[in-house]
Amino acid sequence: MLGNFSYKNATKLYFGDDSLKFLKDELKNYGKTVQLIYGGGSIKKNGIYDQVIKILKECGKKVVEDAGVMPNPTVEKLYEGIKIARDNKADLLLAVGGGSCCDYAKAVSVSVNEKDDAWQKYFVRFEEPTCKIIPVGCILTMAGTGSEMNGGSVISNHNEKLKIGHVFGDEVMPKFSILNPKFTYSLPKRQMVAGIYDIFNHICEQYFSGTDDNTSDYIAEALMKSVIKSSLIAFDNPEDYEARSNIMWTATWALNTLIACGKETDWMVHMLGQAVGAYTDATHGMTLSAVSLAYYKHIMPYGLHKFKRFAVEVWGVNADNKTDMEVAEEGLKAMENWMKKLGLSMNISELGVTDDMIEGIADATFILNGGYKVLTRDEVIKVLKASM
Ligand code: NZQ
Ligand code: ZN
Repeated sequence: MLGNFSYKNATKLYFGDDSLKFLKDELKNYGKTVQLIYGGGSIKKNGIYDQVIKILKECGKKVVEDAGVMPNPTVEKLYEGIKIARDNKADLLLAVGGGSCCDYAKAVSVSVNEKDDAWQKYFVRFEEPTCKIIPVGCILTMAGTGSEMNGGSVISNHNEKLKIGHVFGDEVMPKFSILNPKFTYSLPKRQMVAGIYDIFNHICEQYFSGTDDNTSDYIAEALMKSVIKSSLIAFDNPEDYEARSNIMWTATWALNTLIACGKETDWMVHMLGQAVGAYTDATHGMTLSAVSLAYYKHIMPYGLHKFKRFAVEVWGVNADNKTDMEVAEEGLKAMENWMKKLGLSMNISELGVTDDMIEGIADATFILNGGYKVLTRDEVIKVLKASM
């Protein structure tokens, strides 16, 4: 562990199939008006909405509805949410849904009392909030993003063809999150596997960097093994509680800052995926799976020791009598086979990318420098073309 760091996590979690009952205790800490944030209606179909409303009413709360948060929430929806919160003087923003609802709630929370334009301030200029922040609580219905225990908020601006994430500090993280694995049972399989790949890739983004012997990397390997094992069980039996609970818990730990401790981090698959998302509005996890193999094949020679370790420790590749490159390639092949088994998108053309978009997607890709290779713009284009 050669890096310097501080560690604190500001979110209180309630986990398990009776976790919703703790909502009552949490609600005591906030004022009367609760802005109930949810998506396109899945919580009405699976009954979670009724359960949450019942508790809110029992606690004497005034409920203000803020429905229709779309996957990859837009800047226009953000402005709508800010207005709802201002008009009703919301005391708590309660997000019931996946990462999109939770990310959106955080973006609203830092904007309600801010005079400046939220998109410009937080997503273009990356400034930190200086206004009073409205607290956020989360009831998670999809495992993947880790938004339930981090400060991340990703907003899409389709007019500007940009999808940008801002990682806010402790004060913006959900005050509490309720994680009931059974709430994820009703997810369509495509969303379930997209979330699983999102989890796996969050771990990769923090694993493929550095050369020191680092405890964070050992934790990352354990998390990867757990999610691989549980993914295959959940794929065959989506109502296997043990597997779904492991997936949900792994998602949280994959991106709540723990495994980044003491490390530089890569995040280039996410930068490529977000740029693809800005052009296609495709499902987040699928944008990641579609660019991953081309990207990892490209950077493998620069971080060969780690790709070899990934092959041996995560995928159980036998390294005897093989070159480091052969072992590393076998590891990526094993990852590819797993991805195909889950039915993930393996190229960006199936997500709607056409040749004429490549230059624009490259321009929308932020190039970061924490991984094994700082890409040039030409390399970004090469990776994107190899992902077609
Ligand atoms: O809109 P509803 O009806 O809720 O349906 C959603 C949506 O269509 C559905 N769904 C969620 N839970 C369900 C369910 N359907 C049936 N039963 C359930 N229990 O699933 C669809 C996708 O939901 P969404 O919230 O969009 O998915 P996800 O959790 O993957 O969130 C994606 C967003 O998070 C951002 C992504 O970029 C994207 O905008 N990310 C946030 C991060 C963070 N905060 O740190 C990091 C990630 O890398 C990611 O960038
Ligand atoms: Zn992600």
